Amino acid sequence: MSLTENHKKLERNITLLAVGSFIAVAIGGIVEIAPLFWIDNTIEKVEGMRPYTPLEQAGRDIYVREGCYTCHSQMIRPFRDEVERYGHYSLAAESMYDHPFQWGSKRTGPDLARVGGRYSDDWHVQHLQDPRSVVPQSIMPNYSFLKHTDLHVVDPAGTLLALRRVGVPYSDQDIQNAGVDLEVQANPDGDAADLMKRYPKAQVRDFDGDPAKLTEMDALVAYLQVLGTLVDVSSAAAQEDLAGESGR
Ligand code: HEC
Repeated sequence: MSLTENHKKLERNITLLAVGSFIAVAIGGIVEIAPLFWIDNTIEKVEGMRPYTPLEQAGRDIYVREGCYTCHSQMIRPFRDEVERYGHYSLAAESMYDHPFQWGSKRTGPDLARVGGRYSDDWHVQHLQDPRSVVPQSIMPNYSFLKHTDLHVVDPAGTLLALRRVGVPYSDQDIQNAGVDLEVQANPDGDAADLMKRYPKAQVRDFDGDPAKLTEMDALVAYLQVLGTLVDVSSAAAQEDLAGESGR
């Protein structure tokens, strides 16, 4: 019997076809899924990635609370148009400490994965208070109350401890100092040397334009300004390319 005759038999017998399809799909599934059980980590480590400071984390919690993710994604996809608009595509490691992650797919507004450092603090404060005062055609809501709301983190140490339980590598010292770190990062007159040692590249300054008060605006702007700034993507990408070359 020729091959086509064999195949005809397979196509005309529903049970045989179902069993055959199942085997074919199972092989594909096993090849893709099984290795995940034997490797420790699917995320390549990259230089520079660190957990968020308590202030950045507080800003992140406000970001989630206010539903910013319903209009903004935080994942630059590896396509030319995205890379030209937003910068280097996002690396997996850049969101490894995000719980919950903010990748998203809804882009009513632009992607924010690398918005850190793109605008001044003043711009962010003005934009969050009244988006249309800087971008006249904007449909983003006003968040002016953030500037008048004192930042109140119920349990800064508990927040970090909870994150440590899900794998974010906060040290005991980070957890002990969480309350102090939270305040010192937005205080231009404070002593942030210890914070800087534990959180490299932390930006220490008054973020909301009012050094006398620690507000939710301070936290949110601190968070926006750190997005995409921790990893030196040009060198991380270069390393990746090299690894690719030698693997070929
Ligand atoms: C209803 C949808 C919507 C929501 C909700 C929303 N935004 Fe926006 N956002 C936009 C749009 C549209 C733009 C582009 C126009 C502009 O700059 O205002 C934008 C722009 C931005 C930009 C400037 C980005 C850039 O690269 O120019 C930032 C930063 C930003 N939003 C932050 C936030 C934050 C933080 C929140 C939550 C507190 C938020 N947005 C909530 C729609 C939204």
